[in-house]
Amino acid sequence: MLLHFVQGLYIVAGVLFILSLAGLSKQDTARMGNVAGMVGMVLALGATITHSLWLSSQDPTGRRSVLVTLLLILLVLAIGASIGIPIARKVEMTQMPELIAMLHSFVGMAAVLVGFNSFSEGGDAVHLVEVALGVFIGAYTFTGSIVAYLKLSAKMKSAPLTLPGRNMLNLGAFVVFFVLMVWFVVVGKTPSGLGWALILVIAALAFALGFHMVAAIGGGDMPVVVSMLNSYSGWAAAAAGFMLGNNLLIITGSLVGSSGAILSFIMCRAMNRSFVSVILGGFGSEGGTVLTSAAVEGEHHEIDAASTAQLLWDASSVIITPGYGMAVAKAQYPVADLTARLRAHGVDVKFGVHPVAGRLPGHMNVLLAEAKVPYDIVLEMDEINPDFAHTDVVLVIGANDTVNPAALDDPGSPIAGMPVLEVWNAKQVVVFKRSMATGYAGVQNPLFFKENTAMLFGDAKTRVDDIIAALPAAEPAATGARTAS
Ligand code: TAP
Repeated sequence: MLLHFVQGLYIVAGVLFILSLAGLSKQDTARMGNVAGMVGMVLALGATITHSLWLSSQDPTGRRSVLVTLLLILLVLAIGASIGIPIARKVEMTQMPELIAMLHSFVGMAAVLVGFNSFSEGGDAVHLVEVALGVFIGAYTFTGSIVAYLKLSAKMKSAPLTLPGRNMLNLGAFVVFFVLMVWFVVVGKTPSGLGWALILVIAALAFALGFHMVAAIGGGDMPVVVSMLNSYSGWAAAAAGFMLGNNLLIITGSLVGSSGAILSFIMCRAMNRSFVSVILGGFGSEGGTVLTSAAVEGEHHEIDAASTAQLLWDASSVIITPGYGMAVAKAQYPVADLTARLRAHGVDVKFGVHPVAGRLPGHMNVLLAEAKVPYDIVLEMDEINPDFAHTDVVLVIGANDTVNPAALDDPGSPIAGMPVLEVWNAKQVVVFKRSMATGYAGVQNPLFFKENTAMLFGDAKTRVDDIIAALPAAEPAATGARTAS
């Protein structure tokens, strides 16, 4: 009876997780998606804890005490919460990828430990394959995620580690794993010294492979790698679900595994990188080095905040394209204020968001939502690109690669073929950045030298504040009406 109830709760939690993913795919339903995920997780934990307590109470040997089980569960919950809550509270949005990488390493290690525990109880050939796969994927995810964390937090050099014959080394490791797995399945039906030795060697091999494969990937591709490791952590959890006979873990692991894989694919497409070349590594400079094939020459024009304020006040349509610099400067709040002021004046203001603007998927959308910019004026790249040609002013706030025309015009550019926001088609473009430095991909941007582009140098937040200060005072009681200028 209780088992049926637990399985029923697992199904409800599984459905809630699917609803959560569906909700998270759109900004206006994201909050609902989060709530569905949290309720699902509470139900899942509640059902699992109840199940373990019930198992303890039914133990015929009397070795398991309900009280000890309960205390152990409470202890691990307390340890997890005391570490997780403070970290989650203080993490900056720009540090999110490294936090996620760190969390994936825990999932990987959990799968390894579940594998060892599951093997200690013995099992048939299918079970042993699950154990070998779970340990292998988990160990790979563990070290791979730790390297990703170290690279993202600049605690390890972000340049790719390019050992000679590295692809053959990787291939060799997969072949060796396959042979070890077959051997393990043949000898491991009852846990023996040889069985333990084999599963430990499989774990060691996967630890080394995870380290090597992720170390071979440059810092430039690290966010894609994090999303890929997210996918692997899902498969590791699904493998743990098979080992434990836990359906919810299988459902949840598969959801995480497939959504991570889809996200990696979308990110690769938006960066015009092939998935295979990302996984095999060797790309991605330290950042900031100029790799461009065609030298960009010319003069740039500068503009000050007061003139930009006047331009905006006189415009009837404005598009803002934010990028990584807006996140660094935390300029989203003054940008939201500026938007509100201009809209109150009757200017049509919209946002154009590139799929890989910033450093993690949805980075800009989250920042704009945090600053309460209305969702309906935040458009995707494909939706906004046709609008630039009939827009008066475009404000490029801390974006660089995502507005680089070389991606379309220069076949030799490292970012050639990457779809970009075609801001240069507008009447006037104002670029907010601190210098003429390159962006993430390390390529110079011909946009800065175009006739209709003006550079507004300085920290993005300070400059937007300056513009707001320079705007004419709001017209009294004339909301929506534009003064003749
Ligand atoms: P980037 O090309 O990285 O350029 C950001 C610009 O912001 C820089 O040129 C920098 O110029 C400026 N900046 C930095 N701090 C600033 C501040 N405080 N105030 C004003 N400007 C500031 O940005 P993007 O256009 O968003 O492109 C994102 C890049 O990251 C792409 O190459 C993308 O492929 C890559 N990437 C993204 C993702 C995801 S999922 N989003 C994942 C992996 C890689 P100054 O130094 O001169 O100020």
